[in-house]
Amino acid sequence: MSEFDAVDVIRTKRDGARLSDEQIDGVIDAYTRRLIPDEQMSALLMAIFLRGMHPGELTRWTAAMIDSGVRMDLSTVDRRTVDKHSTGGVGDKITLPLAPLVAACGAAVPQLSGRGLGHTGGTLDKLESIPGWRATVSNADYLAQLRDVGAVVCAAGDDLAPADKLLYALRDVTGTVESIPLIASSIMSKKIAEGAEAIVLDVKVGSGAFMKDVETARVLAETMVGLGAAHGVRTIALLTAMDVPLGRTAGNALEVTEAVEVLAGGGPPDVVELTITLAREMLEAVGLSTVDPADALRDGRAMDTWRAMIAAQGGDPDAALPTAPERHVVTAEASGVLTGLDAYAVGVAAWRLGAGRARKEDPVSAVAGVVVLAEPGERVEAGSPLLELHTDDPARIPRALAALHGAVELDGTADRLPLLIDRIGA
Ligand code: URA
Repeated sequence: MSEFDAVDVIRTKRDGARLSDEQIDGVIDAYTRRLIPDEQMSALLMAIFLRGMHPGELTRWTAAMIDSGVRMDLSTVDRRTVDKHSTGGVGDKITLPLAPLVAACGAAVPQLSGRGLGHTGGTLDKLESIPGWRATVSNADYLAQLRDVGAVVCAAGDDLAPADKLLYALRDVTGTVESIPLIASSIMSKKIAEGAEAIVLDVKVGSGAFMKDVETARVLAETMVGLGAAHGVRTIALLTAMDVPLGRTAGNALEVTEAVEVLAGGGPPDVVELTITLAREMLEAVGLSTVDPADALRDGRAMDTWRAMIAAQGGDPDAALPTAPERHVVTAEASGVLTGLDAYAVGVAAWRLGAGRARKEDPVSAVAGVVVLAEPGERVEAGSPLLELHTDDPARIPRALAALHGAVELDGTADRLPLLIDRIGA
């Protein structure tokens, strides 16, 4: 596409008109092939941010992003295929018990995942705390593991929606991340390209999530459900709470330990409940609703599948996970009922302790993170332990403590969000 054409596309959107299919296909294709400079794409992204997109326009935009790479062919997998995606939250380790659980119930879960950026952790970073486990899997091994084990969580290859990689990096530096059409097309282009028959979305709401309020989260969820349907992929979205951290841990190895507790039949009630709720949705979406995931969790089948899934990617499911050499306990300043523990603050603290990265090339610490020692709703006494900070570098502790300033609420009156807020999709 020539420079003139790109300016024409920018002007069309700037003036609030609808982009034609040719304009959309042309601009995504040319940008992916680096024929349009970042300054022009930035202008278009800002125009989309300000003007929004018509549903038909967004469907075509998403299709063009999918077509910038390959759509995986899972037809050789003799199981129904279903994936889940979370918009990201603090302590959100649900994929770890969920993927093997759903596989143990007979479906296949193909999950091409990313790494964490900012205050929410990435699933690959968590799994990489398991000695020997590798995120990179060849296409042939990916399909074989889906057939044999039923679940694969691995790094997405460069050919999965490459337009999104470029656009996301540009949005990050041009103030255009928080746009519903741009978020929805970014997430759904990758998920649809993965090739599963159905997708269950966990759209997080609250301080620790992208979407801070229920109404905006609902619009995002409805937009993504509509995009899935338009591309022939059954899509359901749950809106779930992210005002407090999920479970009792935030941090890579800490979250793997908690996920294994859930697979062993224990674990925090909110993690167990959300895992089973999402598993039921996933199984129902592919016609396997007669299987009860609670049974597969109870009788050890999900644990067996977890062990097979980890071993298939070189990991040792019996290896001890690394632990932090440096710990610091945060205590209650007064007595009262713990009514709030701000998820965002806990996420930033875990990040500052070393669990997350500021730039995508930064390393992460396997051992860093936060353990929640007192649950919201519990009565605590002055001086009793609330949180334990884990790190391999004690110099990180003061900045983590600063992030937690004001994060603990005692005897507050504001309502907490219910774990399951809403369900969208037929
Ligand atoms: N996650 C994505 O993959 N894309 C976005 O735009 C936001 C969250």
